[in-house]
Amino acid sequence: MQDMTIKYLGHKLKNPFIMASSGLTKDIDGIKRAYDAGASAIVLKSYFEEQINVESTDFSSIHPEGSDDFSRYQTIDYLHLIENSRKDFDIPIIASINCVSKQGRQSLVKDLESAGASAIEINVMSIPKKTHSDLPMDQHYYDTLPSKPNFDTSHTKSSTEVENELFEIVKQVKESTTLPIVVKLYPYYTSIQHVVEQLATKYNVEGVVLFNAPLPLDFNLKSLKLELKTKGSSQADILHSFRWISLLHGRIKCDLSASTGIATSTDCIKFLLAGANSLQLCSSVYKKGYKVIDQLSKELSKWMKANKYDSIDQFHGTLNKHIDINKLNYTQYSKLDTNLE
Ligand SMILES: Cc1cc2nc3c(=O)[nH]c(=O)nc-3n(C[C@H](O)[C@H](O)[C@H](O)COP(=O)(O)O)c2cc1C
Repeated sequence: MQDMTIKYLGHKLKNPFIMASSGLTKDIDGIKRAYDAGASAIVLKSYFEEQINVESTDFSSIHPEGSDDFSRYQTIDYLHLIENSRKDFDIPIIASINCVSKQGRQSLVKDLESAGASAIEINVMSIPKKTHSDLPMDQHYYDTLPSKPNFDTSHTKSSTEVENELFEIVKQVKESTTLPIVVKLYPYYTSIQHVVEQLATKYNVEGVVLFNAPLPLDFNLKSLKLELKTKGSSQADILHSFRWISLLHGRIKCDLSASTGIATSTDCIKFLLAGANSLQLCSSVYKKGYKVIDQLSKELSKWMKANKYDSIDQFHGTLNKHIDINKLNYTQYSKLDTNLE
């Protein structure tokens, strides 16, 4: 029997397969199904910062990613979900908070820790406009808003402002808890390596997730309205995450979690060779059901046996022994040398 354990955020996971934050982890039933299928940790559906405001002001601004059955958790429900899932399942339960502004969330973070969360995943949606109410949203939700956001085009944030906002949020959360913190990044930063290095060295986060995938919006020619495309990611989408995990492994001092497009055991093996400390599954579970977690786990074990690996440790992060990572780094920026070996 192969040893599939791997270390992530200080926890020893029984295998690298984590159920990613989504509607599939919003209640105890979804969590149980992922656990029964063999998930080694669960990232709960994000608690959206806007919900803190909803509780106190009755203003329901809606975030596109929260709109898969936007589950308007009350804080108390979210805390109960953490408590109950920690009680029922012997795997790490990672709370997830979605932040859009620098405003205080210290008491929420303390409550997540008291409820028993094993770690906190921070997911920062940077809105390139001045105010928090300038959320991009689809027409349906826009129509239902009690007051229409005033799109202020006079100030668009610079990339430095966007990064500093992320760092400030992370700093605030880090100062409010002793739990491991993992930051789930969108793939749009101009210098991903710099952002990850800052998070790991200056803000001491324990991990980063590369990458979050925004729900894609499209424009319907008949209705002339915006609509959400809910198909999820496709396998081709792994390449960006794969490139960055390969480049960053061994260069930074925090864990790397792969997310986006993971669908086959080949994807999983590549990410582990590249140095990922966990593999987050979302679209493939939506498409194929929870059983895909068990299938991928069995296929990984089979591959390890065929290649005479007794444990993941024996091949984890060894990709840079086989390929020239500097070449990968170089071709990140240049198309000059396309005859890759
Ligand atoms: C319907 C849906 C809802 C999601 N909700 C969240 C969320 O609340 N918080 C979060 O951090 N990511 C959320 N995600 C992003 C996923 O966790 C994941 O990072 C992304 O879909 C890429 O992985 P995939 O290619 O396996 O789908 C959601 C994704 C989908 C498809």
